[in-house]
Amino acid sequence: MKYAVIGNPIDHSLSPAMHNANFEALHDEDASYEAIDIPQEKFHLIKEIITEKGIEAFNVTIPHKENIIPYLDEIDSQSETVGAVNTVKIVNDKWIGYNTDGIGYVTGLKQVYPDLEHAYILMLGAGGASKGIANELTKYVQPKLTVANRTMSRFDNWNLDINKISLTDAESALSEFDIIINTTPAGMKSNKEIPINLDNLAEHTLVSDIVYIPFKTPILEKAEENGNPIHNGLDMFVYQGAESFKIWTGKMPNIKVMKEAVLKRL
Ligand code: ATR
Repeated sequence: MKYAVIGNPIDHSLSPAMHNANFEALHDEDASYEAIDIPQEKFHLIKEIITEKGIEAFNVTIPHKENIIPYLDEIDSQSETVGAVNTVKIVNDKWIGYNTDGIGYVTGLKQVYPDLEHAYILMLGAGGASKGIANELTKYVQPKLTVANRTMSRFDNWNLDINKISLTDAESALSEFDIIINTTPAGMKSNKEIPINLDNLAEHTLVSDIVYIPFKTPILEKAEENGNPIHNGLDMFVYQGAESFKIWTGKMPNIKVMKEAVLKRL
């Protein structure tokens, strides 16, 4: 079976290496996964591109997670909530969309924080990534989730039962949380910004970021300097891929091999 990831730019994507390593570990010689660069202006050709290549299952990444929706016959409820799709499965010419980013993040978080069910969690940022994770977290976590954002109007289309606060209020209440999750792009790439002042951080609080390039964002570096446990976005990437594989095949992937394949290339 032929798999792919579509995006733009896509040449640095680690998805092909990660999925091909899994196929090899499972001795699936007929499976192959490629990266396909589709610029914005060619996106209207998506159906032709995928069909011509004989692809039956694919991932969708930046900037096409929303663009893909009009081309799908069905989307799952997580994609509906987030308004974005990262996984597509083609069954009898029917294109079905899923979003595994939120479940991928939460599954990764559970590995490092097994008692997630009882955690008091603060999320920073209220974009698409945040909404997807918040929607998954509210399914498992008993204490009410708190989400902090610079711009309160971002919450207007959020229908989740959560506490919505400003970043300033989050700074003063910081010591009340067991886990802090940064979903903002502050600290990504060469940007050295930290989205919140960490002075009030409690000693035990786990600080997590959905980014893994850089491997330690400035917020994680600062938390680590403080002696706090930290967690980056690598697990989210691996588990979103693992969840996509489960949707496509109904089989369990070799997560260890997938993670090693990514780590080797970082
Ligand atoms: P994504 O879809 O990847 O989540 P997004 O929709 O662009 O990305 O959302 C980015 C989020 O990070 C937003 O909540 C944004 O806050 P605003 O709504 O106030 O714009 C937040 N964000 C971005 N840069 C930030 C920064 N430097 N400090 C704090 N929050 C930031």
